[in-house]
Amino acid sequence: MSEVFEPRIVAFVCNWCTYLGADLAGTTRLEYPANVRIVRLPCSGRIDFNLLIKAFEIGADAVLVSGCHPGDCHYNTGNYHARRRWMLFRPLLEVLGFDMRRLHFAWISAAESRKFQQTVKQVVEETRQLGPYQYPAPPTDSYGAGREPHKNHFDAAAAQQRAREMLEAKEVDVVIGYGSSGPVFIRRPEDVDQITCEETGLNLAAYLGRKEVRAMGRAAILTKPMDAGALVVLERESQIESGAVKTIPIGEPGKGDFSDLDALLALPPAERMAWWAGEFARCTRCYACRQVCPMCYCERCIADKNRPVVIDTSPTPVGNFAWHVTRAFHLAGRCVGCGACNHACPVGIDLRLLNMAVHRAVAEQFDFNVGADPKAESPIGCWAPADHEEFIR
Ligand code: FES
Repeated sequence: MSEVFEPRIVAFVCNWCTYLGADLAGTTRLEYPANVRIVRLPCSGRIDFNLLIKAFEIGADAVLVSGCHPGDCHYNTGNYHARRRWMLFRPLLEVLGFDMRRLHFAWISAAESRKFQQTVKQVVEETRQLGPYQYPAPPTDSYGAGREPHKNHFDAAAAQQRAREMLEAKEVDVVIGYGSSGPVFIRRPEDVDQITCEETGLNLAAYLGRKEVRAMGRAAILTKPMDAGALVVLERESQIESGAVKTIPIGEPGKGDFSDLDALLALPPAERMAWWAGEFARCTRCYACRQVCPMCYCERCIADKNRPVVIDTSPTPVGNFAWHVTRAFHLAGRCVGCGACNHACPVGIDLRLLNMAVHRAVAEQFDFNVGADPKAESPIGCWAPADHEEFIR
């Protein structure tokens, strides 16, 4: 006789509403399946997306996230902030092909013991139909994929001329440009010919936060069309002062194009997930994508923390999945689409697709242009009463 599959459900609930609703269900003897493991957190605003990923990593078949109804949060707005994050997290999971039927959101108050009971029953039943959650095995032929090194040509003479003028006029102390084998830091007008006519995908704004570069004084950087937006984000996040960095624009603006993303989204979710499993299987966790990103400036990255280990530090399939989800989600409302991570990845993973999914969600849902206004509030740090919640039970 075949064994009946009993799904494991992890429920992350807030202390003040859903947990009390679950408690009330117990004290009033409302029965619900024993498949659910409840993890109590102070507020739905504290339910980090890494917790959801971790739950699946260690054996959950589905996850339920639940907090107070809008307007009832014990901390006033924690659930609004949570809702905003889930609005952006879901499109990211969708592009990864994650089966969204395994992730459930609900508002359940302390008085709604019956809703808690019904929700758990539904989640268990739906998950039973889906079967166990398994991260897909990566295709065996995924090794060795990659792409041609990126090289754009631009008018180096014009950039050299502008750099010379800036240095001679003492407008800046250093010009950061593209050299023959990496970035060059030009401090004297007579050295501007070290700026070459090729750029290799780097976003030079990534160097602005380094203390050696800060010590050089006022800087100018060569910027491709998408790169300049990074300065706007860095200013919004108080990493540089307004107008402190001058730019020398190079290259023609490209067209915003989501065709690759749309082609990927046209695949069935399971195929998408399998494709990403193959991509992530090549990741060696060199963190080149993090290193070249102007927005990855934290002194201590969550990926390096070992108390607790949020993300498996070795290049395992689940660890790589967690890392790339984390990286992309930390760039929500911050990635300017410069593509530096893509060009830096030595194994050619198309990381840009993940960034694009979140980028598009930010633009469509909040009409937010990441690199436009340094004074605009970041979409992930605020909320609006009209934020949609049709995905929340
Ligand atoms: Fe329940 Fe904030 S306290 S969602």
